Amino acid sequence: MIDQLATIEDEARAALTSVQTLDDLIAWRSQWLGKKSTLATLSQQIGKLPADQRPVFGQRFGAVRAALTELDATTEARLQAAKLHEELEEDSIDVTLPGRQVPVGRLHVSTRSLRRIQAIFAEMGFQVWESREVESDEYNFGLLNMPEHHPARDMWDTFYVKSSDPEHKVVLRTHTSPGQIHAMRALHPHPIRMILPGKCYRYEPVTARSEMMFHQVEGIVVGQHITMTDLKGTLANFARRMFGAEAQVRFRPSYFPFTEPSVEVDVECFICGGAGCRVCKYTGWLEILGAGMVHPTVLRNGGYDPEQWSGFAFGMGPERQTMLLYGIDDIRWFFSNDARFRQQFG
Ligand code: PHE
Repeated sequence: MIDQLATIEDEARAALTSVQTLDDLIAWRSQWLGKKSTLATLSQQIGKLPADQRPVFGQRFGAVRAALTELDATTEARLQAAKLHEELEEDSIDVTLPGRQVPVGRLHVSTRSLRRIQAIFAEMGFQVWESREVESDEYNFGLLNMPEHHPARDMWDTFYVKSSDPEHKVVLRTHTSPGQIHAMRALHPHPIRMILPGKCYRYEPVTARSEMMFHQVEGIVVGQHITMTDLKGTLANFARRMFGAEAQVRFRPSYFPFTEPSVEVDVECFICGGAGCRVCKYTGWLEILGAGMVHPTVLRNGGYDPEQWSGFAFGMGPERQTMLLYGIDDIRWFFSNDARFRQQFG
């Protein structure tokens, strides 16, 4: 039996040479030191030895088991270290790789257009004012010279908001023009030169040409000798700054209940240079805004005596102008929240 111990030790050592991984080692350990190992079986047979041989056997047995346990421990330490080393090698950072791009946010193209329009008017000495989006029927229509049942109300399809008082109708403003009244009432009796940018809402089917929400920039100038010449000069100047120094404008007679006379302003098509193309529908001109001299009734509603004061007003759509500038053929892109669209600007 003693000889067997020596054989076990030799065989175990030999087997260890083919242990490459921690898993191999676990298998080796169970084979040579486990409960079912030859070593364990041998220890159970100690009773069969004559009594005088037992101490020698016991000693030898202990030595072999200690030697194998020791081997097990050192091998485990060596394999653990090797494994760690391998993992570090694998995970090591390659500092020469290009970094990951951090996505940078940007301003929405409508915001950019609004800011550009604001900057142009700021240079011309206009103040920027904001007016409310939820309006009374009175401000959106009545005070703008459109009493109830006035046919011109049909020009704007309106979202009505439920209100507890049926006498006091509430709407989402259909244009920024009610801001004219707020501005006049707030600044009266001083001269005014301001723009009022903001959102408008229309109860219309959403199509390539119309959204139910979009922006407008209103402008209002009130003073003592303001004439149509001021209107024309200011808006022609704006068009040149917005669409290029060569931009030509034309004024077409139009109708708005709150201005008299009223005009629509076109800029010469900058796609085809006036020759006629798909964008300008072969007219050579692109409509960019509505304007006119503030109607005496509106001046009066704002607190200004039309005998002493006069003014002009205008309203433009930044989305529409952006569509013309970039050749965007569908207004729905603006608020569809598609990052691919938004990322093309700025
Ligand atoms: N509010 C008009 C519209 O929405 C535009 C406009 C503003 C016209 C000011 C004249 C003066 O169509």
